[in-house]
Amino acid sequence: MNIVLGVSGSIAAYRAADLARELMRAGHTVRVCLTDAAQNFVSTVLFETLTGQPCLVDTFQEPIPGRMAHIDWARQADAIVIAPATANTINKIAQGIGDNMLTTLMLVTTKPVLIAPAMNPNMYLDDTVQASISLLKSRGVEFIEPTEGDVACGEHGQGKLASIPAIVAATQELLTSSDLLSGVRVLITSGPTQEPIDAVRYISNRSSGKMGAAVAKAALRLGATVTVVSGPQDAPLPLGATVVPVRTAAEMHGEVLSLAPDFDWIIGVAAVADYHVENPDPGKMRRNPDGIQLSLAPNPDIIADAARANPKATVIGFAAEPSQDPSIAQEKISRKGLFAIAANDISNSEIGFSSDNNRLNLIFADGSSVDSGVHSKFQVATWLLREIRARL
Ligand code: C5P
Repeated sequence: MNIVLGVSGSIAAYRAADLARELMRAGHTVRVCLTDAAQNFVSTVLFETLTGQPCLVDTFQEPIPGRMAHIDWARQADAIVIAPATANTINKIAQGIGDNMLTTLMLVTTKPVLIAPAMNPNMYLDDTVQASISLLKSRGVEFIEPTEGDVACGEHGQGKLASIPAIVAATQELLTSSDLLSGVRVLITSGPTQEPIDAVRYISNRSSGKMGAAVAKAALRLGATVTVVSGPQDAPLPLGATVVPVRTAAEMHGEVLSLAPDFDWIIGVAAVADYHVENPDPGKMRRNPDGIQLSLAPNPDIIADAARANPKATVIGFAAEPSQDPSIAQEKISRKGLFAIAANDISNSEIGFSSDNNRLNLIFADGSSVDSGVHSKFQVATWLLREIRARL
């Protein structure tokens, strides 16, 4: 596998040389990026000699002219490991600042990332640093915590770079988990649907599409091939997914049924409108002082029809449920032909809808269930996919 090793300016930078060697011994190709500050402790020559690969510092260094190394390296890497990571580099990555090769590469990559911080214990406990670590974790970045001990500045506390074998083991785990759904084709419905009333008005719901986008991103990160049939949603879908845009439930139904036979997993995250207007006005309806009556007809149940269209597929439903009664979910599982239902409690304003966090109760046909706890939607999505994989 190809690993980019980022080294920032902590005194522990010298230990990155051993780390590079151990990663190579484990069979990986290692390319190193140094920050300017790291160059005070270690040199590009050291890493170029060790790894046999170019070692980059500046965003505009081009070992192969015209290839834009920051894009090229991000594209070719299977994982990025930053060890040691300083407070400065962690904060910059959390805020999306790209002022050197390493931080710019971090803006480009969609690959799994492991960060091993090393710094003064007070710096590690600093509120800004801890907030950046939480933010990056919520986006799916893995951390290997610094250990406690005597640090170079003479203080005692948590700030020493984790051991090299521990970083190598965490890197291997990162690479294995990014293969968990390798070869699995995942079809996801996402976002709300819009049911036209006339040419300018429609019936819809509060779905932001963030959960569907998170499931798509998590599935890609775990190595799946991903297609998203998406209603009009604000949350951006990951570039690696094939996106089929639709507007109405009828359109979503048509696309999902034609795609369903080619997929191994089908996950219904979309908040499909239950009804459509029977005879939408093709023009713009005029205001009627007496009010109007809309005639609503039921929409097809997309996920249930998808389960029927591909009985071999593992089909997962989502349910925005104000009630925690598992028998309601069990009834839906059997009526729709699902493997499991991921229920979220919409009565809790801390989670669900436009929130960046969620909490799922994953309920199976036999009534057993597992609780994700409250985490970012990306973390919850990753948890969900791992739980499903473990049960198959
Ligand atoms: O029946 P309920 O709307 O609670 O079921 C929710 C699950 O069913 C979600 O996975 C949703 O995407 C899916 N669904 C569907 N088509 C509908 C209604 C719901 O695919 N018409």
